[in-house]
Amino acid sequence: MSESIYASWKPVLEKIMHRLVDYLENKNAEKKASTGESAFEHINYRIKGEESMRDKCRRKEIPETPESALCTIHDAIGIRIVCCFLDDVYDLVDVIRNIPGVRVAKEKDFITSAKPSGYRSYHLILEIEDETTDALGNTPGHYYAEVQLRTIAMDSWASLEHQMQYKHEIKNKDLISRELKRCADELAACDVSMQTIRMMIKEA
Ligand code: GTP
Ligand code: MG
Repeated sequence: MSESIYASWKPVLEKIMHRLVDYLENKNAEKKASTGESAFEHINYRIKGEESMRDKCRRKEIPETPESALCTIHDAIGIRIVCCFLDDVYDLVDVIRNIPGVRVAKEKDFITSAKPSGYRSYHLILEIEDETTDALGNTPGHYYAEVQLRTIAMDSWASLEHQMQYKHEIKNKDLISRELKRCADELAACDVSMQTIRMMIKEA
């Protein structure tokens, strides 16, 4: 078997990913206990698979090495947090900003500015310090994780749209893109309405 693109760093990535997820799950439990409401609906996480990391290196025309996988590419660790309401997404972004030993290296608010496809999500690239030496030889090491935060409505759209991307050579491509965009915009309007209804119930 050929060597993993993560070399000996796979367990370090796993450890860092679980540290982040445990922190977020604890915050969720704390909020539930104190207010009766969850901070998020569910959380998914993964280490990018060997082949998809190698594909990404080839796409970016960078060597298939641990340095590329861990230092140049920033989504070896991927965490997706799905929230019920829009406000929950922004509240969680603040929680994430305050995780000890974690710095926000990059952020993209595709909720305020949706992608042309209609895709909406809040993306953060986190830089995490860990005592282990990283692939560039720094001790403590610097590692990265991509966090995607979205509502249930945004998540359902992204899942369906992602499934359909794989159907190549389709007729009416432009019409389909326009219809997908329209669905995304309608779901976004629902998110705003649901947020408003929630506030009205709280105030009542
Ligand atoms: P990558 O090289 O893919 O990481 O691109 P990037 O660094 O420009 O990242 P970006 O933040 O734009 O998007 C990263 C991830 O967001 C993707 O891997 C998808 O999971 C998700 N994403 C972005 N755009 C879309 C979209 O139009 N549809 C769906 N379904 N997912 C998207
Ligand atoms: Mg990315």
